[in-house]
Amino acid sequence: MLEIIDLWVEVDGKPVLKGVDLNIPRGETHILFGKNGSGKSSLLMTIMGFRRYRVRQGRILYQGEDITHTPINERAKMGIGLAFQRPPSIRGVKTRDIFNFCNTNSVSCEVLANRFQFSDLLDREVNVGFSGGEIKKSELLQLLLQDPQLILLDEPESGVDLENLEVLGKAINKLLEKHLWRQRAKSGLIISHFGFILNYIEADAGYVLMDGRIHCHGNPRELFRGIQRHGYRECMECQR
Ligand SMILES: Nc1ncnc2c1ncn2[C@@H]1O[C@H](COP(=O)(O)OP(=O)(O)OP(=O)(O)O)[C@@H](O)[C@H]1O
Ligand SMILES: [Mg+2]
Repeated sequence: MLEIIDLWVEVDGKPVLKGVDLNIPRGETHILFGKNGSGKSSLLMTIMGFRRYRVRQGRILYQGEDITHTPINERAKMGIGLAFQRPPSIRGVKTRDIFNFCNTNSVSCEVLANRFQFSDLLDREVNVGFSGGEIKKSELLQLLLQDPQLILLDEPESGVDLENLEVLGKAINKLLEKHLWRQRAKSGLIISHFGFILNYIEADAGYVLMDGRIHCHGNPRELFRGIQRHGYRECMECQR
């Protein structure tokens, strides 16, 4: 589904990714761990195609096609979807309008909003005055409506209360659920600091990003336990 080869990226002149290699087969979900400022969001923003993240070297292949220089709107149409860590607030645009715009599904946005206790927010401007948890929910509902093939989630659990964590966890599981022969049609790349997401989805692999490079990969639960126990410093030394 996604192959990244020796990717070097700069944002506003600062190198943020320094030779990232990554391979996510169709149907697999991978988890990305890493310290603050290690380049995790930059990686997702680059995969999505934000022009500010300038690819200096390397290639991004999506379903076998080179999308390294494909515009962001085309990537969205090709089936790549991103839930931001910190999406912008948009004055003058109602959340309902963004939801309708994203909707490629047969389910109406009202029905979905109702199911996720989001109805009261539909007529408010996008993210304006939303609480942290409301922003995360809005991002996820937009993805459910968009129904992408490659799902990029930037810290979907941050700032979400325990009850909503369960609700959002189940929604993420639905986005990424496995169907026949335990195969998923879709793939995911999810950034997590706290590992809660591992309770809701079957993750296939995990990595640790450090200073713009991938330093560790393996079973995501084991990796997370290792980080909890020994911190990120050991990841540098382990070099798996
Ligand atoms: N526009 C910019 N100009 C300069 N530096 C930037 C810019 N955008 C990002 N950076 C820097 O790039 C580095 C990587 O940022 P990024 O947002 O990818 O980190 P992250 O791993 O997602 O961190 P966090 O866990 O805190 O979200 C950081 O040091 C950040 O300050
Ligand atoms: Mg980030």
